[in-house]
Amino acid sequence: MTARIISGLEIAAEIRSELKKRVARLQAAGKTPFLGVVLVGDDPGSLSYVKSKEKGAIEIGITENTIRLPGDTPESKVIEIVEELNRNPQVDGILVQTPLPGHIDTEKVLYYISPEKDVDGFHPVNLGKLLRGQPCFLPCTPHGIQQMLVRCGYDPAGKHVVICGRSNLVGKPLAAILLQKAKGANATVTVVHTGTSHIANFTRQADILVAAMGSPLCITADMVKEGAVVIDVGVNRVEDKSRERGYRLVGDVDFDAVKEKAAAITPVPGGVGPMTVTMLLQNTIESAERRTGIL
Ligand SMILES: NC(=O)c1ccc[n+]([C@@H]2O[C@H](COP(=O)([O-])OP(=O)(O)OC[C@H]3O[C@@H](n4cnc5c(N)ncnc54)[C@H](OP(=O)(O)O)[C@@H]3O)[C@@H](O)[C@H]2O)c1
Repeated sequence: MTARIISGLEIAAEIRSELKKRVARLQAAGKTPFLGVVLVGDDPGSLSYVKSKEKGAIEIGITENTIRLPGDTPESKVIEIVEELNRNPQVDGILVQTPLPGHIDTEKVLYYISPEKDVDGFHPVNLGKLLRGQPCFLPCTPHGIQQMLVRCGYDPAGKHVVICGRSNLVGKPLAAILLQKAKGANATVTVVHTGTSHIANFTRQADILVAAMGSPLCITADMVKEGAVVIDVGVNRVEDKSRERGYRLVGDVDFDAVKEKAAAITPVPGGVGPMTVTMLLQNTIESAERRTGIL
């Protein structure tokens, strides 16, 4: 079997065209959604993520403003800026790009973001609501994964989903989303991590296998059930002297081998990545809709 390749780029484009219509409806009501981004320092990964958020926002008609701060900005100043954004009635969504420099307590800063404007979905209030099955902003990467599955016809309902990785960013919120008794969820979820003995015993049982470990090519074909749907969240740089930049990006899954066994698989790049930014834009629009009473 050669797997169907699930293109995050195509699904993201489909969602973005739906989002453009929602922006047009808001604009007709006199509101342009506004996303405020706070970027501290010049971490290359963060710079490139912020750039793709800016590009995506412009593409669909969201106003985006990135506040760029030097890497030695005190924590109190970052919090002050977040509080200004909280108070600014024009702002619908706030995103503080992580990782923050080491002298700043990331959890503390994220806590200051108003839950009503927390379009990244990381505030404890939103995470608590997620766990309880209440409406909230869903964290973008896990929400993007759910959308990919549903839109490609792989409804997680009744399926055994095995998630490799338990980070607050991906693994834990994805487990919380997929185990809800709700549309596009209702799965049986297993989460494995570095404390799990014999990971392959679990991954081989997965109807849907999600790799979110940050461990290059770690999921090999023998760890995957024939006909499984495989979602590769990992983005890892591996040395490649044949490339001008000296590296290439690979996922957590040994794509070439696993695609011969899986029913469907996401590539890296071009898989989960484009979905993450798209779900951030969707949350920003949702916030604007709520704040203007359209939703
Ligand atoms: N495409 C996107 O939009 C997107 C978004 C977010 C993240 N990512 C990528 O996804 C990957 C994971 O990100 P993250 O933030 O979740 O990483 P993280 O915070 O480092 O968490 C990794 C998780 O995987 C587990 N793990 C690591 N190696 C493992 C192994 N060999 N076997 C079993 N479990 C293992 C860790 O277990 P312990 O908890 O036991 O340490 C941890 O729970 C990274 O490559 C990141 O770049 C991509």
